[in-house]
Amino acid sequence: MRRLLVAMAAVLMLTGCAEPVAPEQPESLAPSVTSQAPTPAPSATPSSTPTPEPVTTVSPPEPVPEPEPEPAPGTDQQGSPSGFDAGPASSAQVLVNKRNPLQPADHVPQLVSVSIAQDGDERVRPEADAALAGLSDAMRAAIGEGVHVFSSYRSYSTQTGLYNNYVAQYGQAEADTTSARPGHSEHQTGLAVDVMGTGGQCRLNTCFGDTAAGRWIAENAWQQGFIVRYPRGLEGITGYEWEPWHLRFVGVDAATAMHDQGIATYEEFLGAGNAPNYG
Ligand code: DAL
Ligand code: ZN
Repeated sequence: MRRLLVAMAAVLMLTGCAEPVAPEQPESLAPSVTSQAPTPAPSATPSSTPTPEPVTTVSPPEPVPEPEPEPAPGTDQQGSPSGFDAGPASSAQVLVNKRNPLQPADHVPQLVSVSIAQDGDERVRPEADAALAGLSDAMRAAIGEGVHVFSSYRSYSTQTGLYNNYVAQYGQAEADTTSARPGHSEHQTGLAVDVMGTGGQCRLNTCFGDTAAGRWIAENAWQQGFIVRYPRGLEGITGYEWEPWHLRFVGVDAATAMHDQGIATYEEFLGAGNAPNYG
């Protein structure tokens, strides 16, 4: 049944009836990946440089989020291949990676419109939006530049289109280094955002990590409860290449603990085991 739903979603994408198919640009595949120059505005057509960000003009109806029952403490709510209890999808501390899919796969969180600079129609969970506002204010006070969100919540359907587009362009092995398969993306939790500075430098490019905004975020985002989820050189743990723009809200307590203990990845912090592939 899931294959059928994915196939149907793919058909919708291809026929233009669904959300725009616009994958993040794979770092390993982008010609400008090591360039210090800002990434040029890409096209949304599959035959050209992929558009990094889906414009969330949602055509198909999104399921209405419903409260999910809290699992009994200690239960393996996710039933993940790793056997690790990743927590309920509704938790701000949920672990989502290649070994720990969202359950249910079509989970839809409570969402609000992002209140800081953005591409348009960006949505996240309320606690993530409040933290983003604090992050942007703090960054602006420190370096004179706020935070701009260019990707945020992505539905299962949107992620299906993004991932399939990557696979069509680069093959599955390459796609899996930079794009999560549907049901495995943190963006579906409403707790992950892709950001740059309001100055617009190095959008969706690893050169962002060397900008003033990228460096400030890497050093300070923990104070607002965010972590840079896919650090440089740790794809053997996280499953993804360096994404200095991808922030995950985990809460101030968890982010502070990771900072204070010098722990770079969420997998290590939770003791969840490495997630280099889908196992
Ligand atoms: N780029 C990250 C891994 C995602 O697709 O969720
Ligand atoms: Zn991202």
